[in-house]
Amino acid sequence: MPHHDAHAASAFFASPFEDAAVLTVDAGGTREQETGPGLVPSATASSHKDFREVQARYRGHGRRLHLLRRTVVGPPYSVSPGVLYGLTAAYLGCGALGAGKVMGLAAFGRPDRRFRTPLLERLEGDHLATCDLDDPLHARALTTLMPTLFDGIQPVTSTDQLTDRHRDVAAHVQRQTSDAVLHLVMHLVAVTRTPRLCVAGGYGLNVLTNSRILAESPVRELYVQPAATDCGIPLGCALWGLHQVLGQPRRPPMESVALGGSYGTAEI
Ligand SMILES: [Fe+2]
Repeated sequence: MPHHDAHAASAFFASPFEDAAVLTVDAGGTREQETGPGLVPSATASSHKDFREVQARYRGHGRRLHLLRRTVVGPPYSVSPGVLYGLTAAYLGCGALGAGKVMGLAAFGRPDRRFRTPLLERLEGDHLATCDLDDPLHARALTTLMPTLFDGIQPVTSTDQLTDRHRDVAAHVQRQTSDAVLHLVMHLVAVTRTPRLCVAGGYGLNVLTNSRILAESPVRELYVQPAATDCGIPLGCALWGLHQVLGQPRRPPMESVALGGSYGTAEI
């Protein structure tokens, strides 16, 4: 099944909501030829075997999820908020899966001190930036694309000291991606007219952006799937099968991932 459908199912079907909007944002999911009917290409998309989904929007109701829009990117690639955040983690030496470190580093930088260039353009209700690479997730993006976005700063290696320039990169990317995702949320809320939102996909763990969603959008109740990264895909597949395919009733919401035993103060 399409990767983003699994992310969406892991969020909505595990949530306490009977009716909600669902947003999934990550660095890249299923390739276009495997997503099947319902695909809605972005403005930059056309049929090509290397297109893949980067974000999707749904309306969830009871035992069903309805796809509203699936955004796919491909050569010449567009960089989405999730792709840009993942690239920045590798660029700043945090490792390809170090997005959480970028989020922490952003607190030490200033978003508008050094870099003012918009990184993502608004395209048909999405925020994406076209780049000239065959694949923005390829290692080459770190030595070509990223230095052109950030005044020639080279990728951080294990022996480099982080400076204010690097902290400002993190702050700029945090600000710009959260602006973009907030825009996606506003668009989604306007279409679905619900104050409840479920999120998943790796970017869904960005607590700074999630805080802005609650403070600056009409969303009043937000459910974040704790396993928002790809570790939640098996859960999403199972919940999709249970509800979307078999039509089984919803189960109690997933309120905690602390499933193990508990320990008293004395034991601790
Ligand atoms: Fe994903």
